[in-house]
Amino acid sequence: MATTDSTKQTLAQMGVDSPTKVASLFDDLRSAFDRDVAHEISSLDLEAARVKWLGRKAGILAEIGDNWLKPAAKEIKPAVGQSLNALKAHVEGQFTALAAAKDTAREQSAAARDQIDLSLPGVERAIGTRHLIRQTYEELERIFLSIGFRVVEGPEIETPYYNFEALNIPEHHPARDNMDTFYIEGSKAGHLLRTHTSPMQIRTMEKEKPPVRIIVPGKVYRRDNPDSTHGYMFHQIEGLAVDTDITFCDFKGTVEYFVREFLGPKAKTRLRPSYFPFTEPSAEVDATCHVCGGSGCRVCKFSGWIELFGAGMVNPAVYGCVNYDPEKLSGFAFGMGVDRLAMMKYGVGELPVLTQNDVRFLRQFP
Ligand code: PHE
Repeated sequence: MATTDSTKQTLAQMGVDSPTKVASLFDDLRSAFDRDVAHEISSLDLEAARVKWLGRKAGILAEIGDNWLKPAAKEIKPAVGQSLNALKAHVEGQFTALAAAKDTAREQSAAARDQIDLSLPGVERAIGTRHLIRQTYEELERIFLSIGFRVVEGPEIETPYYNFEALNIPEHHPARDNMDTFYIEGSKAGHLLRTHTSPMQIRTMEKEKPPVRIIVPGKVYRRDNPDSTHGYMFHQIEGLAVDTDITFCDFKGTVEYFVREFLGPKAKTRLRPSYFPFTEPSAEVDATCHVCGGSGCRVCKFSGWIELFGAGMVNPAVYGCVNYDPEKLSGFAFGMGVDRLAMMKYGVGELPVLTQNDVRFLRQFP
């Protein structure tokens, strides 16, 4: 059997003297080549195999040319030439195919290395959202801005004058006790943390001539015992409209419009008599329960109604403090607890979660 070493000898030395023997010799050689490249492809060392077979000086095919073909006897020379060409074509063809296969394999492994696994969880970037209270304020502001109100803000530290007296709550008036006020220690003027946003009614009317149509969002403070519905601080939005011809009907219409906008077109409104020193008459505004729609459930304590906020026609006594003419002017005012409205609308059961800033809670209101 021919081995690749046999190419060092001439055909005459090997006793190959017929075209048949030539053919079988080249068949053996071709098998040897195929075994060679089968081995090399697994080690991917194609270059060594190429030099061994196709090297210009010492390659097997070159040796065959020198040792087999050139000195070949006349009778077998054409057969040697043909077989050599066939072998050469086979060898070169194989190397081309193998090189291409090797490139593909390399590309595939590189691709496998670099590949992005789309099934892996991505890097999550936490994006903040507007707080539920902020969102509720924006909703309230949207509603009132759409009917001509404007937003003003005022100080959280107030004087007793703005927080009480000018609002018709004189000293020793029982309404002061209800308010459980925080006083600023050491303040000669008796500064306090405002207990409601109503002082901004006075501050606005002092500065501006009628007509006035404002809403006042802001924080207010009361010495309540904190529980699931009370805290030291909560959020209000005040409203005030004063003009020459504002009637109780305007008040009622505005309130009903607000309730429908905030709770949906099916919500109905009810006014219950109430008392605030700075409004006369005063009312509590109720709406049909947003949970049962008015038929009665646990949330509305089976009454079908939910208390929303306090309101009323501006008490003429208040105009006296701001140099407005009570004979010519009239208006209405309201004060809403924003936390309450947010809890109600979004089904939040506990007040404290609104200030604890637990992201598990906040995330529910994107
Ligand atoms: N200031 C009142 C409160 O905090 C609410 C209110 C505002 C009532 C305006 C009537 C008019 O309870």
